[in-house]
Amino acid sequence: MPSLLVLHGPNLQALGAREPVLYGTLTLAAINERLVTLAVRSGVALQVYQSNIQAKEQHTDFIVINPAAYGHTSIALRDALLAVSIPFIEVHLSNTYARESFRQRSYLADIATGVIIGLGVQSYELAVEAACQRINNEFSQ
Ligand code: DQA
Repeated sequence: MPSLLVLHGPNLQALGAREPVLYGTLTLAAINERLVTLAVRSGVALQVYQSNIQAKEQHTDFIVINPAAYGHTSIALRDALLAVSIPFIEVHLSNTYARESFRQRSYLADIATGVIIGLGVQSYELAVEAACQRINNEFSQ
């Protein structure tokens, strides 16, 4: 079965309680449950990790990543994603372009397959749907 990895960056374990006006009231576990349901419907096995790039070891076909603040700061994360060479979609719950100027840069966007920002949990859901479609297209060729 093809597989999709959803990676959550630092501090996202606190979702639900953390700045709900910005990030919504769903916990990380609740978001993960919704994403697993979506992926299963598409016949894709979904794995979830927080703060780690373990894609190669786990054999993953595609990555959905919310890099959290690392997206704005981390060349190391960029290099890690380039090194594993697995296509990925960058997501953010909040509209980072409507926030502080330091959140308006991404070290990942230009090497991502796509970027979905500012739609709350729907950012993840749309990314998982797009990733499942791409995985299934690739496997049907
Ligand atoms: C975030 C946006 C980042 O700027 C912030 O550091 C986060 C969450 C988001 O999902 O909106 O931790 O990635």
